[in-house]
Amino acid sequence: MFAACLPTRIITNHCFFASLTMLSLDKLTKQYKTGDLALNDIYLEIPDGQVMALIGPSGAGKSTLIRCVNRLVEPTSGSICLNETELSSLSQGELRRARRRMGMIFQEYALVERLSVMENVLSGRLGYVSFWRSYFRNFPQTDVDEAYRLLARVGLDHMADKRADELSGGQRQRVGICRALIQNPELLLVDEPTASLDPKTSRQIMRLICELCKERKLSAIINIHDVFLAQMFAERIVGLQLGEIVYDGPPDGLTPDVLTTIYGEEDWESTIEKVKEEDFEEKRKDSTSLASGK
Ligand SMILES: Nc1ncnc2c1ncn2[C@@H]1O[C@H](COP(=O)(O)OP(=O)(O)OP(=O)(O)O)[C@@H](O)[C@H]1O
Ligand SMILES: [Mg+2]
Repeated sequence: MFAACLPTRIITNHCFFASLTMLSLDKLTKQYKTGDLALNDIYLEIPDGQVMALIGPSGAGKSTLIRCVNRLVEPTSGSICLNETELSSLSQGELRRARRRMGMIFQEYALVERLSVMENVLSGRLGYVSFWRSYFRNFPQTDVDEAYRLLARVGLDHMADKRADELSGGQRQRVGICRALIQNPELLLVDEPTASLDPKTSRQIMRLICELCKERKLSAIINIHDVFLAQMFAERIVGLQLGEIVYDGPPDGLTPDVLTTIYGEEDWESTIEKVKEEDFEEKRKDSTSLASGK
């Protein structure tokens, strides 16, 4: 049996609004054998359906946090609770089942190059089908239908039979997104999804991930280097620095002072101005293409 965590409730002034917490981290600490303290006493709650961006300089602990959640990295101490399941104390079998509930999207896509797009997407179902079915890649028709639906959603249904190594970076990441979603996860863990992509494709991928989270009411943690992409698409930003949370708030709270606290000194005023102009231009393009039905 899974250990249970207590659901959290938010009480507002006027009504009793119950909101389940999808993920909660309590006193999460990770010290690697080398002595590096990658996470120090992290407390974080992610409500159901929230898309949160995790930002911070290189070495801040972003990947470690994501990897502790799915226990690819063993935390040194603390609690990790996924929708009422305490993850930090699961047996191997329980952990395998719990991992189905968390979809991962990686910077380098982690596709099997010689397999087709369809086979790569279906590999997201491996945790659900029997050993022999997966050995012969004999997936149920319902899985194949869902894979086609997902590929159509990300605009790749016409490429189902292509080999993964014939795709561009943006197309590979779309396949990675489909593979994570076919798991039917409750939480998406996304580590630098755009780091290998050009600026325009990066925006498209971030937009796609965030739209899919909304459509499927998924919670997500998105580690991202590009602070302004985070600001553009996430509803909440958490800033890490040397393994500690130094900012937790709305995207528009990332003032030059806050950015200096997270990343150090830079000319944040002019960088923010530039991004505002780009953001305006982006929104203008969106409304033009909507108006013309594109
Ligand atoms: N396997 C490991 N063994 C020892 N130390 C590690 C290991 N992985 C990460 N670290 C250390 O833990 C700290 C946090 O690393 P982490 O990779 O989580 O940072 P990050 O914020 O994801 O950085 P980046 O933006 O460069 O990906 C760093 O000091 C790093 O050197
Ligand atoms: Mg990282």
